[in-house]
Amino acid sequence: MAFRQLWIILFVVGSLSAAPWDGRPGQPTSSPAHFLLHALVPEHNQVRDLTCLECRTAAGVIAAMMAEGATVEEIEDQVILDCVLLDLFPPDVCSGMVRLSGAEVLHVLNATKYDHETVCGWLLGGHCQHTQLDPWTLAVPGGKPAPSHPEPAQPTEGVVRILQLSDLHVDLLYDEGSAAHCEHPNCCRHAFGDPAPGELAAGHWGALANCDIPLHTLDDLLAHAALTNPDLVYVTGDLPPHDVWAQSHASNLLAINTTVQLIAKHFPDVPVLHALGNHASAPVNSFVVPTAYADGWSMTWLYDSLAAMWAPWLPEEALPDVRKGGYFSCSPKPGLRVISANMNYCNTLN
Ligand SMILES: *[C@@H]1O[C@H](CO)[C@@H](O)[C@H](O)[C@H]1NC(C)=O
Ligand SMILES: *[C@@H]1O[C@H](CO)[C@@H](O)[C@H](O)[C@H]1NC(C)=O
Repeated sequence: MAFRQLWIILFVVGSLSAAPWDGRPGQPTSSPAHFLLHALVPEHNQVRDLTCLECRTAAGVIAAMMAEGATVEEIEDQVILDCVLLDLFPPDVCSGMVRLSGAEVLHVLNATKYDHETVCGWLLGGHCQHTQLDPWTLAVPGGKPAPSHPEPAQPTEGVVRILQLSDLHVDLLYDEGSAAHCEHPNCCRHAFGDPAPGELAAGHWGALANCDIPLHTLDDLLAHAALTNPDLVYVTGDLPPHDVWAQSHASNLLAINTTVQLIAKHFPDVPVLHALGNHASAPVNSFVVPTAYADGWSMTWLYDSLAAMWAPWLPEEALPDVRKGGYFSCSPKPGLRVISANMNYCNTLN
């Protein structure tokens, strides 16, 4: 699950400063704050998805603040203040999320040549889709091959059995007995409180609530999975937990590496091939494209570390691609080529 709401909140609450709904003919007469409170904070303090109009309006207001010379910090301060005043999230979530993602989101909004309709189309997709992208020509080495439609081969003794693990989201701070429902977007941690009498507590193996799993649950799951003797293991990303407002490069790398090491322990003789999920980065969903490295942005903290973690199962020649863009291709078995694409470049938030 992507924390779309948290990431976008930066845009949303920015619109409170000067939302243009006021006094517009045909628009509700309520203040922008009431409008957004109603729209964003229905029961249970859950923020629903942003609408297309809200996204465009909020992006426009933030752009106007930047045009007036507001600094990144001033805009972040304003957004955090609004987020807290509106009680959208607990204060640590408001400030953590905005401080983590503010500089990048504002840099992109400030630098993009695309209008807000196009930007919101990328963010929200679906009904909001409206793109003005330039035509993009990609040279395919050797030219476009003629289509062929081979019949699927019937299973033979040569069948390869693949175990796919995805979205493990282990929470190293999982705390058995803590509240399984809490004010924070992610619970079952000591820091987020004890359950009220009669309320659900975090169980030993996990909780059917807003919680990730403890490490010992994954350990047990992998022990069982190893009994099936797969020929290959695919790990298709999203290993860190959902505490996206409280993450750092170090905390994400620790969660990823702990999980990678645990999988290696249970499958010592099996090739394990990884792919990136949107939660690998901190802030979440943030994957700078290689063409922006020249502007001072960098992904080396993540991609160099992943190259080191994935190296035991990859040939040396695959590693430069991991370091460059978090993708690779390799052939773990004769006749089989695996392409691990960094799908975050095309991510419209899952
Ligand atoms: C936006 O871009 C302008 C021009 O490059 C720059 O002076 C300004 O500092 C930027 N503002 C933010 C908030 O990044
Ligand atoms: C991952 O953890 C192992 C074992 O603790 C350690 O040796 C290794 O340096 C770590 N790798 C990275 C990239 O952090």
